[in-house]
Amino acid sequence: MSLPKKVRIVEVGPRDGLQNEKGVVPTKIKIELIERLADCGLAAIEATAFVSPKWVPQMADHSEVLKGIRRKPGVAYAVLAPNLKGLDSARAAGAEEVAIFPAATESFSQKNLNCSIAESLERFGAVARAARAAGLRVRGYLSCALGCPFEGEVAPARVAELAAALDAMGCYEVSLADTIGVATPRKTQAMLEACARRVPIERLAGHYHDTYGQALANLYASLELGVAVFDASVAGLGGCPYAPGATGNVATEDVVYLLNGLGIETGVDLARLAQTGLWISAAIGREPATRVGRALSSKSKCSAA
Ligand code: HMG
Ligand code: MG
Repeated sequence: MSLPKKVRIVEVGPRDGLQNEKGVVPTKIKIELIERLADCGLAAIEATAFVSPKWVPQMADHSEVLKGIRRKPGVAYAVLAPNLKGLDSARAAGAEEVAIFPAATESFSQKNLNCSIAESLERFGAVARAARAAGLRVRGYLSCALGCPFEGEVAPARVAELAAALDAMGCYEVSLADTIGVATPRKTQAMLEACARRVPIERLAGHYHDTYGQALANLYASLELGVAVFDASVAGLGGCPYAPGATGNVATEDVVYLLNGLGIETGVDLARLAQTGLWISAAIGREPATRVGRALSSKSKCSAA
């Protein structure tokens, strides 16, 4: 199969990237990050999470963030909603899109959501129904689609069954997450092939954390099967507070560089994105986890010298 001509990148840095930061990131930095990312040409940005501040204190300013951003026409600003309470607060802050996020293993579901998979599907089903009835778009994530920090291997058939459940709830897309970044390309393809038997490949997305440095290879393997939507995080920020040892998502800069090289359109200005990655890394006192961002930065320092 030929590779897609165009890829939609869902920038998850402001949410998945920042949620795990120990020090509180000031609300105005979060807002500036989202606005800068939109100015780079990213048309889908996950802005924050309306989760319990007891569980993820970093996202406690969710309403201020969502209300505070200058929204750019044509950009979708999604937020996580774990329950109806989160959905209500998200709507009150002006959300137009929410994401629901069950897991493929019982242990991770308990750790991340404090309930079983079946309970989470009931809860998320209610969120999806209410959100859609109110005219919001709903995206689905499936955590641990390629491995679990507590249970290890996860059967592709189980992942496919849960992806189909999210599709049946009316999610316009199901993003399959390698939460702990353990997958390799053939394994990724086996999982995607199982899912594509239940949900059209056009409605599947890849959400690959880069813990073992395999995310770009897995992304390419997904492109080969026709997947054309990928989640990524500027400067490779992030990790899940309930997935021990997991690092950030694949860096958006690295994804754009790869796709540019393949002649696949993304609409993203790589130079501007790399500057944004350096800026947010400096703002939160981190080394940027993007090889492309670092390479572009040292190249521009050399040419300026
Ligand atoms: P619980 O403790 O079972 O819920 O948590 P509860 O209903 O008993 O509520 C406990 C307290 O939280 C109460 O406050 C609620 O009011 C409050 P209290 O009465 O004690 O003062 N509360 C809320 N406050 C604000 N907004 C809300 C909300 N809900 C309850 N929406 C719950 C259950 C689902 C809430 C909790 O487990 C939770 O928030 N989990 C989310 C954890 C999380 O955000 N994890 C990271 C994001 S997921 C991720 O990173 C994976 C992903 O990237 C894909 C991948 O890579 O795998 C998407
Ligand atoms: Mg994630």
